Amino acid sequence: LFSITAFAQRTEANLTEANVPAYTLPDPLQMADGKTVTTVQQWNKVQRPYIYHLFETNVYGRFPRTPVQMSFKVTSLNPYALDSLATCKQITLYFNRADTNAQIHLLLYLPNKVRGQVPVFLGMNFYGNQSVVDDTTIPITPHYTVKGPGIVDNHATEASRGAQASQWPIKDIISRGYGVATFFYGEVEADKPDGWQTGFRTQLKDVLHIEPQEWSAMGVWAWALCRALDYLRQDRRVNEDLVLLMGHSRLGKAALWAGASDPRFAMVISNESGEGGAALSKRDYGENIEIITRNFPHWFVANYKTFANNTAALPVDQHMLLSLIAPRPLYVASAEGDQWSDPRGEFLSARNAEPVYKLFGKEGVGTETFPHVQQPTGEFIRYHIRSGKHDVTSYDWEQYLQFVGKHMAMR
Ligand code: GCU
Repeated sequence: LFSITAFAQRTEANLTEANVPAYTLPDPLQMADGKTVTTVQQWNKVQRPYIYHLFETNVYGRFPRTPVQMSFKVTSLNPYALDSLATCKQITLYFNRADTNAQIHLLLYLPNKVRGQVPVFLGMNFYGNQSVVDDTTIPITPHYTVKGPGIVDNHATEASRGAQASQWPIKDIISRGYGVATFFYGEVEADKPDGWQTGFRTQLKDVLHIEPQEWSAMGVWAWALCRALDYLRQDRRVNEDLVLLMGHSRLGKAALWAGASDPRFAMVISNESGEGGAALSKRDYGENIEIITRNFPHWFVANYKTFANNTAALPVDQHMLLSLIAPRPLYVASAEGDQWSDPRGEFLSARNAEPVYKLFGKEGVGTETFPHVQQPTGEFIRYHIRSGKHDVTSYDWEQYLQFVGKHMAMR
C-alpha cells in the first residue's frame, strides 16, 4: 500500500526534537575536487569564492558589484539629542541622479562624550526610523510596513514613534562610547511578494546591471547595508574599520548575507535570524525551506524553493554562510521561546562553521554541548540562548557590547 501522505506537501513545522530526520552537512573545507582546504590562501582564493557563489546561485541571488554614484545630504543635525548625550544626524543617501526616488534615510547617533572616531553598530529597522526612538524630528516613513505596533493598514502612524525603543537601547549604547546607525528596510523594498516592482530592484536595475529576478529581497536589503556602510566609512566621526553589523530575525538573515558579501564589516551579530539566516536548513526543525519560501517567496531567489522538499540536494547549508564571515568576530543569538527559529539549529550551525575559524587560528564556540540559557560561549564565534520570546532585549545587547569590547581590546 502506498501512503498518500508521502505525496502531500509538508506545511506544518516540526517542533519535536525526536522527530528531526537524519541529515548530512556539507564540509565547508571540502573543495569541489574532493580535496580538503588546508591553508588560508586556498580558502581565500578558491573555496570561499566557490561557497559564496553557491549562496548566490541557490539562496540569495547574484550580488551586484557595479559601483554606484552615491550622494549624501545631511537633512538634520541635532547636537543635543538624548539629553545631550548624543549628536543625532539624519542623512539621505541617493544612488542615481536620474532616479532620486531611490533613497535611504539613515539615522545616526554619535556619543558626545567621546572625541574622534567611534565604532558604530549598523542595523536595519522593521517599522521606520521613527519607531526606534520617540523623537518628533524623525519623519514617519510613508512606505509600506508590515504589521506591528502603531501600524495601520500597512502604514506607520504617530503611535509607532518609539514603539521599538526596547529593541534599540540607544542611550545605553551611546553611553558605552559607540554610535548607532539604522534605516528602514522597507525603503529599499516593501516586504511583500510584489515589493520588487516598486523597490530598488526595479529602480536601480539599469544602474546595477541586474534584472529584478536575478536577486532577491534579502539580496537587496543586504546590498543596502553595504551602501549605508559606504556612507559611514566617509563620516569623519565614524571609525571606518569598526562598523558592526547587527540584525534581528529577517533582518538578521540580511545582515549575515551582507557580512558575507562585504569584508569591510568588522563583525556580524545575528539575533534570532532563524531559517535562511543562522539556522541549519537541512535540519528539519521549526521553520523550514518549504514554509519560508511559501510565505515569503520574495526573500530568496526562485532556485531556493526547488529544495523545499529536497534539502539533501542543496549544496550548502547555513553554517557555510557563517563560515564566510571568518575570521571576523561573529555572534549568533537565540531565544528559548523562539523555537520557530530553531535555537539548536543555530548553535549547530555556529559549531559547524568553526573549522574555518580554526583555519585562521581562531577559536569558535568551543563546545559541542548545547549551552544552557544565559550561558554565552565562544571566542570568535559566540553563541547564547536566553530565556524569553523572539525579540531583542537588553540582555542581548549587553552580550553584544561585551563581545565588541573584548574584541576591540584584542586588536
Ligand atoms: C517570520 C518568519 C521568520 C522571520 C520572522 C521575523 O516568523 O517566518 O523567518 O525571521 O518572521 O522576521 O520576525
